Amino acid sequence: MPKKKPSQDKQQDVKEQGALGFSESYWRENYHNLDDMDGIYNARDHALYLRAVFALDQIQIRSVADFGFGPGHLFAAVLDTFKPYKCLGLEPSISAFTRAQQLLKRSGSTLLHTDLLSWCRDESQQKRFDLGLCTSVLQYLNDEELAQVLPILAQRLKYLYLTVPTSHEQQRFIDEYDFIDNYAYSRSREQYLAMLSPYFTIVSGRILESKQHFNEKNSDFTENLYRF
Ligand SMILES: C[S@@+](CC[C@H](N)C(=O)[O-])C[C@H]1O[C@@H](n2cnc3c(N)ncnc32)[C@H](O)[C@@H]1O
Repeated sequence: MPKKKPSQDKQQDVKEQGALGFSESYWRENYHNLDDMDGIYNARDHALYLRAVFALDQIQIRSVADFGFGPGHLFAAVLDTFKPYKCLGLEPSISAFTRAQQLLKRSGSTLLHTDLLSWCRDESQQKRFDLGLCTSVLQYLNDEELAQVLPILAQRLKYLYLTVPTSHEQQRFIDEYDFIDNYAYSRSREQYLAMLSPYFTIVSGRILESKQHFNEKNSDFTENLYRF
């Protein structure tokens, strides 16, 4: 999510659908200055943070998927850092997809122009990944979409790197930057935790562990104190 954004039109009652891709005007208005956008100016810091957290517990990350890679900076930094043998990225917005193709072409990643729910519904997607990235994307899925997506992600991933703005943060964007995201749903921290907790355990800042694959007894993460 950008740190700073210019003001937009008043929030609509009917949400625009992120799964169909954001409009060209969204990208033009909100992504013209990449220098202060989280996941872009600090993409390498995100990747180094992930490397350090997994290295501390000697957890190998050999495959990575990004669900909504946008302009692709964070995904590229993570691929560059972990050098996975298998990688997949998906992105429904055609302009972001096209832009990121350039950045990601050296990585050898499979790139799909599709949305998260479509990928989850596609039963031919049999591959499993050690690490999934989903940064500032889940706010664009409605409750029904999230209810379908989360159990599949827990099956297909061991770990999920998740950032998502809660209603509290979205209010701060409005107050401080006059920014209203017409595509985003507003959910409280408690609502997100209730949706995530059947499928994932929080094991570190932004890092979730799949309950399909791990529990308290077989987890590779030490420090039981930080399991939520
Ligand atoms: C705020 S941007 C974040 C991009 C990138 N993950 C990052 O951290 O820089 C949100 C991205 O989510 C994508 N998106 C929106 N709805 C989606 C959906 N249903 N499935 C997958 N991606 C979606 C948008 O096209 C956009 O590229």
